[in-house]
Amino acid sequence: MTTPSRPASGPEPDSHADSALGRAAHRLLFTVVSRCPPRLRDAALRRIFDSTHNSGEDPWSVDSDPYEVFKRQQLVDAVPESADVVLELGCSIGANLRDLAVARADATIVGCDVSPRAIDTARRITDGLANVRLSVTPAATDIPGTVPSGMDVLVLSEVLYYMGGASGIERTLGPVSASLHDGGTVVMVHSADDAPALHDTAVRVLGLQVDETGWRSPPGDARSFLLTRAHRPG
Ligand SMILES: C[S@@+](CC[C@H](N)C(=O)[O-])C[C@H]1O[C@@H](n2cnc3c(N)ncnc32)[C@H](O)[C@@H]1O
Repeated sequence: MTTPSRPASGPEPDSHADSALGRAAHRLLFTVVSRCPPRLRDAALRRIFDSTHNSGEDPWSVDSDPYEVFKRQQLVDAVPESADVVLELGCSIGANLRDLAVARADATIVGCDVSPRAIDTARRITDGLANVRLSVTPAATDIPGTVPSGMDVLVLSEVLYYMGGASGIERTLGPVSASLHDGGTVVMVHSADDAPALHDTAVRVLGLQVDETGWRSPPGDARSFLLTRAHRPG
């Protein structure tokens, strides 16, 4: 996959990675976690992300930051109107799910997250939306159990950082891959400088063909994110 380079003026909006050193330390932490035995790994991820979600109702300011609102609108627009079952892995407080549920009212929107605290908030945010389903799903495990009939759209938004590099992405997306229908769509959105490498790895692991990829910015905002839309041939 050939990805256009990031606009030169854009700072990296990943809140965990406000410097190259900070990002390296962040990625190292999750690489170490991803190599732990599964029960320990899942418990560590749950503890880390429960703690993050305990720090506030909206830890990444996804509902108040105009950059996040613009990014979410672009993500929703990239999901085909014909979507039947959409799965977001790592849905956090459910803002993407809520907007997807409204924009794709005929689809079932499934959100899963390793953090029960995140899912508690997502349940509140999506209250009253009959086409949303939520699940606490331990990392790297039973997506097939969460969506028994599989999905035709997979959303990976600001989540690949936490899987522990290429080998961790392989371990996590392996079980997910089995549930993605042939012809299904994957929409990926990441803001950090390593987004191209993360998207490349996911494309390889999931056996995808890229339909479009490129950096986007809200008007008047120097921050940017990489959006990739791809599909599984067949
Ligand atoms: C930065 S938030 C992104 C939330 C949302 N996707 C968005 O775009 O706003 C990352 C979320 O991924 C979850 N997460 C991280 N690794 C995960 C994994 N392996 N399985 C499921 N959820 C995971 C975290 O608990 C957290 O809620």
